[in-house]
Amino acid sequence: MTVPTWLGDAVLYQVYPQSFADSNGDGIGDLRGLAERLDYLAWLGVNAVWLNPCFVSPMRDAGYDVADYLTIAPRYGDNHDLAGLADQARARGIRLLLDLVPGHTSDTHPWFVASADDEGDHRYIWADPRPDGRLPDGFVRSPGRRPGGYLPNFFDFQPALNFGHARQNADEPWRQDVTADGPQANRAALRMIMDHWLRLGVSGFRVDMAYSLVKDDPGRVETAKLWREARAWLDRAHPDAALLSEWGDPTVAVPAGFHADFFLHFGGPTNGRPLRSLWSNGASTERPEWATEPCYFDAAGNRNADTFLSAYRDALAAIGEPGHIALPTANHDFARLRAGSRTPEQLPVAFAFLLTFPTLPAIYYGDEIGMRHLPGLPDTEGSVMRSGYNRAAVRTPMQWDSSPNAGFSTAPAASLYLPVDPDPQRPTAAAQRADPNSLLHLVRDLIALRHANPELGSGGSLEILSAGYPLAYLRSGRFLVVINPSDRACVLQHARPEMAGAAAVKNTGVAVDLTTITAEPFSFGIFQL
Ligand code: NOJ
Ligand code: CA
Repeated sequence: MTVPTWLGDAVLYQVYPQSFADSNGDGIGDLRGLAERLDYLAWLGVNAVWLNPCFVSPMRDAGYDVADYLTIAPRYGDNHDLAGLADQARARGIRLLLDLVPGHTSDTHPWFVASADDEGDHRYIWADPRPDGRLPDGFVRSPGRRPGGYLPNFFDFQPALNFGHARQNADEPWRQDVTADGPQANRAALRMIMDHWLRLGVSGFRVDMAYSLVKDDPGRVETAKLWREARAWLDRAHPDAALLSEWGDPTVAVPAGFHADFFLHFGGPTNGRPLRSLWSNGASTERPEWATEPCYFDAAGNRNADTFLSAYRDALAAIGEPGHIALPTANHDFARLRAGSRTPEQLPVAFAFLLTFPTLPAIYYGDEIGMRHLPGLPDTEGSVMRSGYNRAAVRTPMQWDSSPNAGFSTAPAASLYLPVDPDPQRPTAAAQRADPNSLLHLVRDLIALRHANPELGSGGSLEILSAGYPLAYLRSGRFLVVINPSDRACVLQHARPEMAGAAAVKNTGVAVDLTTITAEPFSFGIFQL
């Protein structure tokens, strides 16, 4: 399969479009606002931007309820703006990725409205009522003339598109094979949608709930076949484009045809433990039982990095290429790095790890300046999940400067999509850009270091020397990286004579001599051997 060369060197940046930059003062971010901030992203050094869904939608799940796959939602601009944005980004060496939502539409999508009135339509999964009048578990009653009900994919207003069931069942005669007309029409539609945006200049997609397409699919075998088919088409039609999955299990998702998959707070054999074991300090978790798990990047320093490292090794063994495993700082569904007890002084060491590890780094907008996770906000466009967990905390406006609304928008504060962090000390991009000792400058320097030295990127080898406090590893035998996220100084004995001459490239408190590495609290060091 073809792999676009740009992906291995990518540093991804995720933009939540409604919260990034508002160009017309309506309180909601938009494409022109983002275009005006491309120089900032180019200065930072990121070279791929993933934009959450920006298509026509009733916005009951912030755009993950698509009503028209081919048209930009008016509040963000129009298709022309999108094409212009992709061009302007490309001119700065930045590729634009959109969010593809293949598993479901909005219940206002014309496909669904028609399907709810037409018993012969199989774009969605419809079931007849049982003899006792009840619907099968999980189904929602039809809103149209059609009897029975439909299967939702996430919220009830997100009917699942029908990609078939992997197993048939005599008691459920409405199940269709993956080769049936409805499922095949949906596959063709996916290609058509991807083609539409790729022709307008985008470079690929992050694929929402990519694991969810074929139902009752043990081992996701049929779902993987579907994606491999899509990938084969992409390799022929758009060989420079990339598909990144929301799967949370690179070991399965990459062999299933994705160029890369994210470690997430869910997914995989331990349901998200590898990512949570790094960042999740219990402050804001989707499930209460996750709140008590310690994480490696914590001042308490009571969990080593083994959970993450062994998942990384397993994924690498299955895939063969570290550049296919994406590691996010956060995303629009789980807590920011600066959540709960994690203070600004703890952030540099997290970025030092993110940007010197072989995985594909993905920075969630605002994490590069240490924006806060802000619980306690109102339910906004479906931010509250069925579990009660509110994702608004991680979706507040980007903090640009010291002007009103932190420079996000000229609208009255009360009409912003979500409130700006009210803390008068809130970090801003402008203040940090003016301060060479800021987190923003550090992140920029680390990105530049990674771009300048492929040994630090996804192509270079990794040798772990210690997985505790400090975490120490060699990249390509040429760089030594030492990470201490704990609030205690720590010491590592070693027997590597070559380290005696290690020259610091970036160092916030690590000392290396012939036999010993010492790391101050919250410090890191990157050394060239
Ligand atoms: C995952 C997305 O990341 C999330 O924000 C959305 O609510 C669901 N999929 C449903 O599309
Ligand atoms: Ca706007």
